[in-house]
Amino acid sequence: MGEASAGASSPKKRLGILISGRGSNMASLVEAAAAPDCPYTVALVASDKPEAAGLAWAAERGVPTFAQSPKGMPKAEYEAKIDAALRAAGVEAIALAGYMRLLSDDFVARWRGRIVNIHPSLLPKYKGLDTHARAIAAGDAEAGASVHIVTEELDGGEVLGQARVPILPGDTADSLAARVLAEEHKLYAKTLADWLRD
Ligand code: GAR
Repeated sequence: MGEASAGASSPKKRLGILISGRGSNMASLVEAAAAPDCPYTVALVASDKPEAAGLAWAAERGVPTFAQSPKGMPKAEYEAKIDAALRAAGVEAIALAGYMRLLSDDFVARWRGRIVNIHPSLLPKYKGLDTHARAIAAGDAEAGASVHIVTEELDGGEVLGQARVPILPGDTADSLAARVLAEEHKLYAKTLADWLRD
């Protein structure tokens, strides 16, 4: 599968991006894909929330989108629909970008080694939620974000890249989140590209 890129020796990888909301990391990945030497093309943006703002953003730019709410169905059935949409789009690797739903072990196994996630902490610190508030409460001098391989362990797979920012006096979880997010946008596109080139 894969579309040839002008002048490049290997075909572009077909990337699926899963989101749940705003989608600013997804947008940074879509924008980075416009570069001729980018090793991926965005084949599908999918969401568990049909109303996710990121879905509309992607659709407006001509990126194929798919929405499936998990409400009213077993998790396995919901994930089978996501899986089918990804495969129908010829997706070869998946980037989670603010996708706030735990993937089942079965789904992770079917895409073993081909799913990455961005998490707003310096892993292995602060897996899970409320990462920025926890970093401030702990008195940490710095915070950041990590891109990692997704395994069955929550936020536990191999870390591929990190970005660091200082925690400043007076920082709130929101002000720190905004500073980290700006770094996330640079980190994700670069780390993903390096990983896919390997
Ligand atoms: C980002 O900060 C991302 O790191 C975080 O959610 C935000 C999504 O923003 N992800 C997680 O917390 C995953 N556990 P975005 O929708 O604008 O990319």
